[in-house]
Amino acid sequence: MIKIRSPRYEQSEITLPQNVAQLNVAFNGELCSSNGESFEIKRNIIDLLKKDPEKLSPAEYSNFLSITASVYEDVWRTKSLGLITGHDFPIEREMRYLYDWVEPKPNQLIVDLGCSTALYARKLKAYQSASDVIALDFSIPMLEEARKRADADNCELYLVRADARKQPFFSEQVDAIVCGGTLNEFSEVRKVLFECKRVLKPNGRFFLMHLLEAETWWGKGLQLTAKGGGVQFHSKSEINELFEEAGFQLLKQHTEGIVCFSLLTTSA
Ligand SMILES: C[S@@+](CC[C@H](N)C(=O)[O-])C[C@H]1O[C@@H](n2cnc3c(N)ncnc32)[C@H](O)[C@@H]1O
Repeated sequence: MIKIRSPRYEQSEITLPQNVAQLNVAFNGELCSSNGESFEIKRNIIDLLKKDPEKLSPAEYSNFLSITASVYEDVWRTKSLGLITGHDFPIEREMRYLYDWVEPKPNQLIVDLGCSTALYARKLKAYQSASDVIALDFSIPMLEEARKRADADNCELYLVRADARKQPFFSEQVDAIVCGGTLNEFSEVRKVLFECKRVLKPNGRFFLMHLLEAETWWGKGLQLTAKGGGVQFHSKSEINELFEEAGFQLLKQHTEGIVCFSLLTTSA
């Protein structure tokens, strides 16, 4: 049984019913926290936010459109690293980094932060079925798409609507956090990194795939448009400084063009 924390009251506990993760059976209802606060569950999605966040950047706003959610994975996500690096980069190669660096173990609690369609969450659960995987995003359309895909994969996931800046976990509760491409979209990167540090166990693992600031003139030009939409790009030294400032140690890093895989840990 997984107990998570209310995003509003730090002492308040929310117990997740185990069958809410069984996505082939529709689960609707309400969850009550230990201090009496109630949260809706609609078709297995546990809504800890209750309403959409305010003041969204265009990039963030696009994630609240059902059309983005429905095409995101097939049209963009699974091809994106090939397009961005300019060479063949099959999704299986990205997953190899994920499995080898995260090394998911039985009974671990793993969070896919800013999960969109829960690609990492689904793959990790299929790879280590004895782990508990929570797919977290603040967009209901993305979580609905995640549910459809996880159900089709026969994959048990907890789908939680929450904000990465205020995560619904107790301090030192989570074994691993994985975050594919979302670091560039967080509007408050520092806040998210400090939250990740808070919720990770000592020696916890934090796996990220993120994009660095381009060095070529044409790359900089393309990123200028994305920056206008609210996407942020840091140089490798800048982002590594932010990781360190939040209290992480860098265990591994691999870059290919502007694509960067980072594995961070928290000290024991
Ligand atoms: C680039 S997509 C993520 C892709 C996904 N991780 C993958 O590997 O395919 C960014 C996602 O992060 C979510 N997101 C952005 N800021 C967030 C926040 N503060 N809290 C929760 N989710 C957030 C968006 O709704 C969107 O679904």
